[in-house]
Amino acid sequence: MKPNTDPDLYLSLIVPTYNERDNIEPLLERVHKALSSYKYELILVDDNSPDGTAQMAESLASKYPVQVVLRTNERGLASAVVAGFGQAAGRILGVMDADLQHPPEAIPAMLDAMQGGADMVIGSRYVEGGGMEEWDSRRELISRVAKRITGLFLPSVRGIKDPLAGFFFLRREVVDGVKLAPTGYKILLEVLMKGRAAKVVEVPYVFRGRERGKSNLTFKEELNFLRHLSRLIWFQGDAKRFLKFCVVGATGFGVNFGGFWLLTRLANLYDLWALIIALEVSILSNYTLNHLWTFRDKSTGGKRAFFVRAVKFNLVSAGAIAIYYAIYIPLTRFAGVYDLLALFLAILVGLVWNFSVNFVWTWKVRSASTVPTDR
Ligand code: GDD
Ligand code: MN
Repeated sequence: MKPNTDPDLYLSLIVPTYNERDNIEPLLERVHKALSSYKYELILVDDNSPDGTAQMAESLASKYPVQVVLRTNERGLASAVVAGFGQAAGRILGVMDADLQHPPEAIPAMLDAMQGGADMVIGSRYVEGGGMEEWDSRRELISRVAKRITGLFLPSVRGIKDPLAGFFFLRREVVDGVKLAPTGYKILLEVLMKGRAAKVVEVPYVFRGRERGKSNLTFKEELNFLRHLSRLIWFQGDAKRFLKFCVVGATGFGVNFGGFWLLTRLANLYDLWALIIALEVSILSNYTLNHLWTFRDKSTGGKRAFFVRAVKFNLVSAGAIAIYYAIYIPLTRFAGVYDLLALFLAILVGLVWNFSVNFVWTWKVRSASTVPTDR
């Protein structure tokens, strides 16, 4: 292998550990061998493992370039990695597991990709040549579902085949000064979403079976993933869009509510007619405001596109009318609910329907933002 003389490639390898004592020596040995032509430091971030992982690593510090960050009042894989970033001196930061499920021998190929100009390199199980050594059908299923959900809600990482990996390298500029919220254990997703990696490359590797110790990841962590995901959805701006849609909806509510009030109280119109007239007026004002504001970035094309979307928006709203009636009539006619309250409830349910369908159909926010693998 070519000796590496590029000082830019000084590598800080961050390894979070919890009860991995028996893996430490083989890990350090194999990493050292794999990185024989690189300048590196290995930062082990241990959360005061009761099995003495940290002590084991300390005892090997004269033999290998390892330093231990001992955390006594915090637990968690993702936060351990972020703590490691904080200690790292290298220009390149790497993250890998201690249990050798990420084979250290795969590192040089990943560093080559970094040298080839990538801002970030992900060890990937799902690109050609990658895979899993052991087949745990439950884990496999959870992993696939989690990946699907991630792609569905975070379109910007859809091009990444293994966004939930825990084996990756990045230039430190990618995360320098970036505020990472290390919830749960999917730190890569956090870095992909918030970091500044323009070019991401996936390099295949085979996820090995665990030979020593046992996995720390619990069902609770799997649920925690959903919490993390919802935070990222909020972060990426779809939630902001929803908020705008709600604000527009509130103005529409005013138009609708006020119109209904005027028509029933002043014009003495039959309430079911008033409902539909006030609704249509509010639909048109909502459409215009969403066009100008909520979906401004997606409101492309000329008059024709504007008109097509207006028709779609009205069709979606027609669905909402069905919902309105399905809620309003039973509530007022059979449940004896006050008409304005029934209307309010109907508007609420209609809002959720309207947002979702206009989002994916009228303005096609999702399908428009697919990202190629090699960004
Ligand atoms: N410091 C610290 N604190 N380290 C932890 C903690 C913690 O609370 N929990 C786990 N670790 C360390 C483990 O010691 C190990 O080195 C690494 O994090 C991964 O933990 P495992 O328990 O072996 O997890 P896994 O094998 O189920 O999951 C791994 O593979 C996934 C791929 O499907 C992780 O690397 C995931 O990030 C990865 O996505
Ligand atoms: Mn593991």
